[in-house]
This record gives sequence, C-alpha cells and structure tokens, in this order.
Amino acid sequence: MKRKTPWFEDDAFWAAFTPTLFGEERWRLAARDAEPLTKLLSLEPGVSVLDLCCGPGRFSVELARRGFRVTGVDRTALYLKEARKRARQQKLDVEFVREDMRRFVRPRAFDACINMFTSFGYFERQADDFKVCRNVYRSLRPGGRFLIQAAGKEWLARNFQPTDWREVDGNYILEERKVAPGWTGLENRWVLVRKGKVREFRFFLRVYSGVELRDLLLRAGFAKADIYGGLNAEPYDHNARWLVAVGRK
Ligand SMILES: C[S@@+](CC[C@H](N)C(=O)[O-])C[C@H]1O[C@@H](n2cnc3c(N)ncnc32)[C@H](O)[C@@H]1O
Repeated sequence: MKRKTPWFEDDAFWAAFTPTLFGEERWRLAARDAEPLTKLLSLEPGVSVLDLCCGPGRFSVELARRGFRVTGVDRTALYLKEARKRARQQKLDVEFVREDMRRFVRPRAFDACINMFTSFGYFERQADDFKVCRNVYRSLRPGGRFLIQAAGKEWLARNFQPTDWREVDGNYILEERKVAPGWTGLENRWVLVRKGKVREFRFFLRVYSGVELRDLLLRAGFAKADIYGGLNAEPYDHNARWLVAVGRK
C-alpha cells in the first residue's frame, strides 16, 4: 500500500506559506532574539551550534554572523537554497544539510542545538519526538544544551481560538483549529487565499505542556531540563507567551 505523505514532507505546504512564515519582519525578530538566545544557552564565542529545522536560515545566518560555527539541518530543499543564498550574500561559512530530524545524528559534534519557532511535535507517533531528542542528545558534547521554542499547551488552552485570519502582503490565511482528543495536539486547517486562488492544507501539531516537555527531555537522557516562558528566561507562569525548554546533557 502506498504510504500517505505526511504534511511536513509536502513541499507545496512550505512553499505556499513562505511569505507568511518568513517575511522580513520574521527575519528582524531572529536578529532581535539571537542575543537572549545565546545568553540563555551561555554560548562561548566560537562554539558549534546545530540549528535543527533551520528553515531558510534565520537563526543559522544570524548566529554565524555572531561568530558561532553553525550547521543548519532541514528537510525542505527550497528553504535550504534560500539559507545558502543568504549565507553567501553575507560571506558567511555555514554548513547546511538536507536531512530529516528523525535521522540526523552526529555524535558529540555540537555544544548546543536549537529548534526554533515551533519546529517540534510534527509526527503522528510521539515516539518520533522522543527519537529526535535522543538524536540531539547523542549529537551534543557532554555539557551541551538543547533549546526548544514552541507554543505551549497552557497558552494555547488559555487563548484558544477555533478560527482566526491574518493578512500578510496580500496573502489571506484563514486558520481553523480543533483540539485533538485528550489535548494531545491541534488539528489544523489552513486556507490560503492569494490573488483569488484558494488552497487548503490540513495538519496535526502535537503540543506539549511545560512538564510534558521537561519529562520528554529527561527521558531522552538529559541530566537537567529547565522550562522558561521566553528567550529572556521569563518564568513559565500564567503570563508566559512561549514555551522554551532547555535540556542540559
Ligand atoms: C516553522 S518552520 C521554522 C524554521 C526555523 N526554525 C525558523 O525559526 O525560522 C519549521 C521547519 O521545520 C522543517 N521540517 C519539517 N519537518 C521536518 C523534518 N521531519 N526534519 C527536518 N526538518 C523538518 C521545515 O522544512 C521548516 O523549515
């Protein structure tokens, strides 16, 4: 029987949402967030960083510009092409690798790994999220850190909106979301309207609460896992906008 392509392997999805996910404002946010990110991870100058699910290289390029040795990994060729172009334009030496996060392992090669802007929780089986954490654990040197930035279940529950729409540069995105049974995640339907053309995409996103993500990291072998409400080490309390987890090997 032919395997159904999972949503995150659909290049048409990533291509369609490039303007809305990665407009210039989003690049400015990466430049702003790089400083607190490096502080939170206590990155010493020149250490090696794995940007897992790097997309078009927002953080890879920004971190390389700040003197870190960066490897960006992503499955989407279109994004890697853009990432390479941006690095070249700034004369930065960044390694980009096309690979699935469930497969990429490079034993004890990195001092830190980042997974930014909700690039976690894409798989139908939670065992695959665990596998990703194990891969990262193995790819870190002793003392290495793994940072995940995601939308937390607590915030999503408190601010739940079944429907929503946005306009970015003439693209209209209509978003519909339903809570998956038992709050395991969100069932999403995104409708993109551009120049009168309508396209629809459906996808499942597994969402984690603070304790769930911490437990996952500890189960994967991390000696310690801290949970914050943002990259500035905000507390993960009722005001937390982001769920930021930092596992320490
Ligand atoms: C929301 S984007 C975030 C990109 C980047 N981290 C950022 O902050 O701009 C999610 C990224 O995950 C990548 N991705 C999705 N599934 C993947 C997989 N199984 N393995 C590796 N990358 C994947 C997509 O290609 C996309 O670039």
